Amino acid sequence: MTIQEAEKMLKSCGQEHVLKFYGKLKKPEQEALLAQIAKIEPKNVKYCQAALKAGTAAVDNSKGTAPKVAVLKGKALKEAVAAGEAELKAGRVAALLVAGGQGSRLGFEGPKGCYPIGPITNAPLFYFHARKILARGNRYGKPIPFYVMTSEANTAATVECFEKNNYFGLDPKDVFFFTQGMWPGMTAEGKIILDQPGHVFMSPDGHGGLLAALKKSGALKDMKKRGIKSVFFFQVDNPLVEIADPAFIGYHVNMKSEYSLKLCAKRDPFEKVGMPMKFGAQYRMVEYTEMTKEQCTRKAKDGKLYFLYGSPAIHVFDRAFLEREAGRPMPLHLAFKKIPVVDEKGKVVKPAEPNGYKFEKFIFDILPNAKTAAFLAFDQKDEFSPVKNAEGGDSPATCKADMQEKWAKALAEAGVLVRKDVAIEIDPAYALDAAGIKETGLCLGAE
Ligand code: UTP
Repeated sequence: MTIQEAEKMLKSCGQEHVLKFYGKLKKPEQEALLAQIAKIEPKNVKYCQAALKAGTAAVDNSKGTAPKVAVLKGKALKEAVAAGEAELKAGRVAALLVAGGQGSRLGFEGPKGCYPIGPITNAPLFYFHARKILARGNRYGKPIPFYVMTSEANTAATVECFEKNNYFGLDPKDVFFFTQGMWPGMTAEGKIILDQPGHVFMSPDGHGGLLAALKKSGALKDMKKRGIKSVFFFQVDNPLVEIADPAFIGYHVNMKSEYSLKLCAKRDPFEKVGMPMKFGAQYRMVEYTEMTKEQCTRKAKDGKLYFLYGSPAIHVFDRAFLEREAGRPMPLHLAFKKIPVVDEKGKVVKPAEPNGYKFEKFIFDILPNAKTAAFLAFDQKDEFSPVKNAEGGDSPATCKADMQEKWAKALAEAGVLVRKDVAIEIDPAYALDAAGIKETGLCLGAE
């Protein structure tokens, strides 16, 4: 992009101030700024400005009802597993990981996926995801292509982590990295924020940025070429996730669903999880902040919470649905943050109070557009223990303890007795679950 093109583009959306210090910058800084400006689309600037104008209007959720959530047992479970296994054997299943987040609460330098979580080996989060995908693919005789979304800040480090570890045993041909978009930060007046004289403050466009990035990168085309039908979506911070779990895939397929969600019972009425609600014929994710106290505590006839099930962001999407949605604009969510900013003289000021907005898209905002949706219950303890915080709840300590408990349970199920004081870690590609442990013929002495 030339300076003239940049001037013209910025003028078209009222952002001429972005070049205010251009004349004072060194050549490489000028080039870097022009490269940044080239990535900003005027239509996106206007979209952000419209979102600012609209603000975060309160949504009326009072008419929402609880969705029907399946708890699979006996014959229904067998049928779902059989359908899921058929999909996996036919090679119609892909895994899709969103790993572009900044992980600010954990405070770890580098991509969260590189965080050492293995209780014994310190293997990174990526290891557990990749080895599960490898094991599942081997079990059904067809590789599961692995699509990994990163952000500008962590793409290089993520790819390096995979390369350094030989893709954790996966064939690099089956791993597809793609980078999510960035949005410029803005003042309340809709002006793009410069955090340095030659640098625009930009932040990743949220996990909902997935759709645009899937399309732009060619990942959607790649899925189609490979004959993928069901896309298993998960987040980087949960090593307990049962990636491409046949029961979930099969339930999704049998329900002819476009968007399926695994849900778990809330641990307490005010647990901070989003929950899908039904509004007429549509479903919509309602965030915990948008629920009234009455909704949080309402009881069903059986005495359990009426809005019992929350979403830990484990989904299966129909690929064609993702394709359809990738071409449509998504709502923007505003986050008011402390953003470094340059003053009139070009000096960087770190604000004491929030001063600007970041914009994010959320993947679950496409739920109302699904012609069919399905909801499947699972036990939180078995499949969800995220690493969000450095300490306390949802931290590495709680996650490692839950990983060990899950392995101990699988070993017990396979008839292997383990002393309680022994640390456990199982490579998922060695044994994915209790069935996998049995196959290894492993038999330890009991104590
Ligand atoms: P979180 O909402 O937990 O955010 O992301 P985070 O960035 O990882 O952590 P904090 O909030 O800064 O502490 C949930 C999932 O969505 C992905 C994350 O990588 C994680 O897998 N994500 C989030 C993206 O891929 N892109 C984003 O822009 C935001």
